[in-house]
Amino acid sequence: MTQTFAIRDEFIPFSPPLIEADDIAGVVDTLSTDWITTGPKTRRFQEVFCETYGAPAALAVNSCTAGLHVALVVLGVGPGDEVITVSHTFCATANVIEHVGAKPVLVDIEPETMNMDPAAFEAAITPRTKAVIPVHYAGHSAEMDTINAIAKKHGIHVIEDAAHPISGKYKGAFVGSSENPTSFSFYATKNLTTAEGGMLTGTPEFIEKARVVHLHGMSKDALKRYEKGGSWKYEVVLPGFKYNMTDLQAALGLTQLAKLDRFQARRREVVSQYSKALGDHPAFTIPVEKPEVESSWHLYVLRLNLDQLTIDRDQFIDELKERNVGTSVHYISVHLHPFYAQKYGFSPESLPVTWDTYNRIISLPLNVRITDEEVAYVIGALKDIAAKYTR
Ligand SMILES: Cc1ncc(COP(=O)(O)O)c(C=O)c1O
Repeated sequence: MTQTFAIRDEFIPFSPPLIEADDIAGVVDTLSTDWITTGPKTRRFQEVFCETYGAPAALAVNSCTAGLHVALVVLGVGPGDEVITVSHTFCATANVIEHVGAKPVLVDIEPETMNMDPAAFEAAITPRTKAVIPVHYAGHSAEMDTINAIAKKHGIHVIEDAAHPISGKYKGAFVGSSENPTSFSFYATKNLTTAEGGMLTGTPEFIEKARVVHLHGMSKDALKRYEKGGSWKYEVVLPGFKYNMTDLQAALGLTQLAKLDRFQARRREVVSQYSKALGDHPAFTIPVEKPEVESSWHLYVLRLNLDQLTIDRDQFIDELKERNVGTSVHYISVHLHPFYAQKYGFSPESLPVTWDTYNRIISLPLNVRITDEEVAYVIGALKDIAAKYTR
């Protein structure tokens, strides 16, 4: 007799943040100071970020998207230029290329890591290629030695989309410790959150230019103008943006950063529970961590082996929802969105590995709050669905 799966009453959310008493106290303390926008806390957050991850220099911004946009502007990318990136990413990676008037050239991914395929990058280079934006998907570093070497050979800037890999490493070095402009995200679902926010890292020279671009193109920020000894005078040297982080966000960033190791340890426990239980299952392909990489495990992206199942990915997600399990799909490939498909004439199959991957991926609940019991329940739900719809 087949056992029936007992559906729990409470929904298991995909990625709620963990905001604790110290986080709340930090924000409340900041509210009672005279400085609530970009000021001493933001400066401190930048310093601690550099100390922790070995970044040459850092600029706190109000999103990873803003950091990517600023990087393109500082590097002088504009109309007539091409920027190579992946389609297997969040739309922001490509949107910023459109914002500067350049052309996003979308390339395919490696099946194993779901990161940019360096060979596809090299094949897409033209005389107009000005930059490449690899994405460290799910927190697993892209193949940076190869990508950097190809970029150097062709005189192309490398900007790293580091929305996911905070605290992750490639060949023993933290993502963000290189001289490449690198943009992190502290969005609500990220490993470290400031609700909205980001950190742009790079060389001190790059960050000085980025500082001007990220705040109206002003030669001096508010702290330099309003603190004791400051002067009200400033000059606008270019038409910049309004991308600064507030001290309220930085206060949250500081307390979250101080305990990120604990958060990461819990993420890894959850990951190993999933991988141990699902690794041998014929209906699933589990995510990899290559020997030279330490993933931040921002996402646990399970791939369905559709030839083993009678339902597709969307139906599988509906079945999980019926069992009160919250999941997500990271991401709807950029080349499938109408704006990009129509403007550049993509069909879904234009990028075969991306298309195949998109149809198979489900991001499982992965966060610091999920309990072992809930992880076991998610595993049970996955196996129950796979058994019910086995081919
Ligand atoms: C790969 C990738 N790039 C960029 C972003 C944009 O980050 P933000 O929301 O901080 O602008 C995200 C956000 O989820 C992302 O996943």
